[in-house]
Amino acid sequence: MELRDLQTFGEPGAIVYLADCVALMRLMPARSVDAVFADPPYRLSTGGPTVKGGRLAPVDKGVWDRSLGSFEEDHRFNVRWLREARRVLKPDGTIWVTGTHHIIFSIGFALQTLGFRVINQITWEKPDPPPNALHTAFTHAHETLVWASKDRRARHTFNYDLINSPNPGSQMSSVWRIRSVPKREKLHGYHPTQKPLRLVRRALLASTREGNLVFDPFCGSGTTAVAAKELDRFFVGAEMEREYAELAERRIGAAGRGVVLREISETFWDGT
Ligand SMILES: C[S@@+](CC[C@H](N)C(=O)[O-])C[C@H]1O[C@@H](n2cnc3c(N)ncnc32)[C@H](O)[C@@H]1O
Repeated sequence: MELRDLQTFGEPGAIVYLADCVALMRLMPARSVDAVFADPPYRLSTGGPTVKGGRLAPVDKGVWDRSLGSFEEDHRFNVRWLREARRVLKPDGTIWVTGTHHIIFSIGFALQTLGFRVINQITWEKPDPPPNALHTAFTHAHETLVWASKDRRARHTFNYDLINSPNPGSQMSSVWRIRSVPKREKLHGYHPTQKPLRLVRRALLASTREGNLVFDPFCGSGTTAVAAKELDRFFVGAEMEREYAELAERRIGAAGRGVVLREISETFWDGT
């Protein structure tokens, strides 16, 4: 199989391949992307209880989110895709991986085993978390993002002045308080685990430059693609489900190239 045999969605400059991400990355040239932003399956869909519309319901985000059989198999999957992600990253490129406790320890171990160097562990604090259904634990009110460079020798991009403006004296911390996805970002269709644009924008703005190529192995509804386009970066992604690749295409089509880059202002980092 070659890249041209795969079906694509999106547009020139922001392309989603309908493909398994490991198969796609094996077709991509080594050292070709500036940054990876990955929101992999958290393996949360165990049938355990959650609250949906005020009622108890089993967690089921889709077959793609179920465990592959055991913790060991889920970890092997993380090693497989991270190894390919490392191969396609440029020497000074960086990777972002999101997760909850269900996978983040596997991700952290896999990253370090493969030779990546962790730069930051970001806590995405959610001011509006769903309640804990059974009252048996603290409400889960955050997710983690691990940001890592390809290896110890890498000289990664960090746009310090840009992300700390307008007041470079007060440094942005590794705790990011960002609300869940606003309604206006859901106008083009439903994805069960869509990420807020504000979260992905911040990561890409901090770690990439205009014209860079961003890769997302688990594209979903295309949040990374939209953030990349709005910041005038180029985008390639993989998504296994046609329904979500089509949703990503609609979102990409509606996004304006460079629009957010032009709008960066004092209110950009207000965390809402
Ligand atoms: C957690 S969601 C990503 C959501 C995305 N960040 C967004 O904001 O919409 C993971 C996505 O990866 C897709 N997926 C799961 N396994 C995959 C694989 N091996 N290759 C490509 N896509 C995969 C799923 O269909 C799902 O849409």
